[in-house]
Amino acid sequence: MSYLSGKNILLGVTGGIAAYKSAELVRRLREQDAVVRVVMTAGAMEFITPLTLQALSGHPVATDLLDPAAEAAMGHIELARWADAVLVAPATANFIARRVHGRGDDLLTAVCLASAAPQAVAPAMNRGMWEDPATRENIAVLEARGIRVFGPAEGSQACGDSGPGRLLEADELVEKLAGLFSTAELAGCRVLVTAGPTREALDPVRYISNRSSGKMGFAVAAAAAEAGAQVTMVAGPVALQTPERVERIDVVTAAEMQQAVLGQLDGTDIFIAAAAVADYRPQAVARQKLKKSAAHLTLELERNPDILATVAAREDAPFSVGFAAETESMEQNARQKLQAKLLDMIAANRVGEHLGFDADENALQVFWEGGSAELELARKSVLARQLIALVAERYHHKHNDDKVIKLHAKDPA
Ligand code: C5P
Repeated sequence: MSYLSGKNILLGVTGGIAAYKSAELVRRLREQDAVVRVVMTAGAMEFITPLTLQALSGHPVATDLLDPAAEAAMGHIELARWADAVLVAPATANFIARRVHGRGDDLLTAVCLASAAPQAVAPAMNRGMWEDPATRENIAVLEARGIRVFGPAEGSQACGDSGPGRLLEADELVEKLAGLFSTAELAGCRVLVTAGPTREALDPVRYISNRSSGKMGFAVAAAAAEAGAQVTMVAGPVALQTPERVERIDVVTAAEMQQAVLGQLDGTDIFIAAAAVADYRPQAVARQKLKKSAAHLTLELERNPDILATVAAREDAPFSVGFAAETESMEQNARQKLQAKLLDMIAANRVGEHLGFDADENALQVFWEGGSAELELARKSVLARQLIALVAERYHHKHNDDKVIKLHAKDPA
């Protein structure tokens, strides 16, 4: 889950032994749903074939600045405009030197010169070349121009030396590249998210639960972290990986979730309740496994606390966002919940028919007092980012209004 989803990434590959690692990098980028186009220098093609990177990226690899056919298909200016970000990995000492001097004598340097997109280089070279004063100065120049330098890592090198100069691993490069797109919309904010279902035990082996996969809540937590927030997520039992930079607290029951949430509330600016909390729990949990002796079995259930409503009703309530899974009269039900639970915002989704629970895609209608927004069918990661952008906007809006109200209250006139 990252900011790379749907992004056009232009990967430049230059001629070093680490060029073979660019194949893995292309795969990792595509796993993040990035669209990848590769430009190779002549040197790179001595180490790895364009066919490999074409097969992995799903696009023809561009190699030649002066090839009329290639220029007609997608020329260097078009490539430069197409890119949302340019990453050169591996970047040799020679490429870095040419980049510093603004050379445009091959396709890759020409694209880099022409592109206004954020750019990064991932150096890979022998440690002596990395430590040479010429390279040190060149790197400083690139950094001063706003070109990001990823790595290099230290360790054993292909030439037998050991020291700085190794290409960063593909996963690290992907994470750093994603960082180029992270916004600071929620920088300095503490965000608390609930995610997943809860389980309410009937006996030592059985429980009541629901079909929530937790995917939306996890995507929301990831998006909030990418927006610069400090994020804590209280998660019910789900089989999902914790997103980067998110602190996770695992719970099982609604009561445990409530306790964890209340324990984390201090200093929380924004609370987003994406969990599908079980509304009821068995009144008594059988100590032993229930026997199937009777023809009928009646379960007595009691209401679970409404965590979101409890939080939003507090005097020091954070900006509170709820979800509403509806099968009918979506707007009416969502707006009614917005008011009843004293929420700042509610995101409603239609459930059933492959939507909502357990799906990878969803669509949301978001409501707040005096406004609404439609977030069309998209991957949950994409939706979560759109939702976080809305939350950030409304949160800052409310915050500024609060400041104005306080100022007026102090004003004796
Ligand atoms: O009332 P309803 O269950 O439809 O409300 C859904 C919203 O309330 C979701 O944001 C959910 O996370 C939250 N909720 C909660 N505690 C409950 C029930 C729902 O926080 N016990």
